[in-house]
Amino acid sequence: MKKRIAVLASGRGSNFQAVIDAIAAGKIPATCIALITDNPKAYAIERSGKAGIPVTLVDYASFPRREEYERALLAAMQEARADLFVLAGYMRIVGSEIVRAFPGKMVNIHPALLPSFTGLHAQRQAVLYGVKVSGCTVHFVDESLDGGPIILQKCVPALDDDDEDALAGRILEQEHIAFPEAIRLFCEDRLEIVGRKVRVRK
Ligand code: GRF
Repeated sequence: MKKRIAVLASGRGSNFQAVIDAIAAGKIPATCIALITDNPKAYAIERSGKAGIPVTLVDYASFPRREEYERALLAAMQEARADLFVLAGYMRIVGSEIVRAFPGKMVNIHPALLPSFTGLHAQRQAVLYGVKVSGCTVHFVDESLDGGPIILQKCVPALDDDDEDALAGRILEQEHIAFPEAIRLFCEDRLEIVGRKVRVRK
């Protein structure tokens, strides 16, 4: 049985594209049933159009208060009836009510080796810290910031001459491999959350 996945993205959407491409190539047993975005200018919307994926816009700027935005987002997510919500460059913190509505059904990608460098500008944080390796992390979303159980991580070297963009580019290449891989495992029912750990069934 194919899973129904909905993607939340706020911007460029290159990870969204990697997921679209992996589904089209038959690598993920899923149908992408919706892009949900908070940003009417997101390039992810163009990608959706090309792939024939319906777009739901929940425009953050059109709500007077964050709570009202969150309520509308929750309604849009419930309406999608997705098996999995994929946060692919969704640039807002997901409110607790939404996290609690979809336990174990939401995954995020973060451009650092968690638990290092949570929050925004993770690649810049890594360069400024002077780390020798960095990478990306795909994890389940819980109520903490970038702190849910880790599904998989990929490493890249951090080189002496790297600036933020150079490191971000190297990490992004791995994101485009890691995210489809983690989503595939979810869609094959091979992930089990046991406390803080995610066990991957063979
Ligand atoms: C990626 O670096 C991802 O790890 C982070 O936001 C960025 C989104 O890039 N959460 P894109 O929109 O997928 O190109």
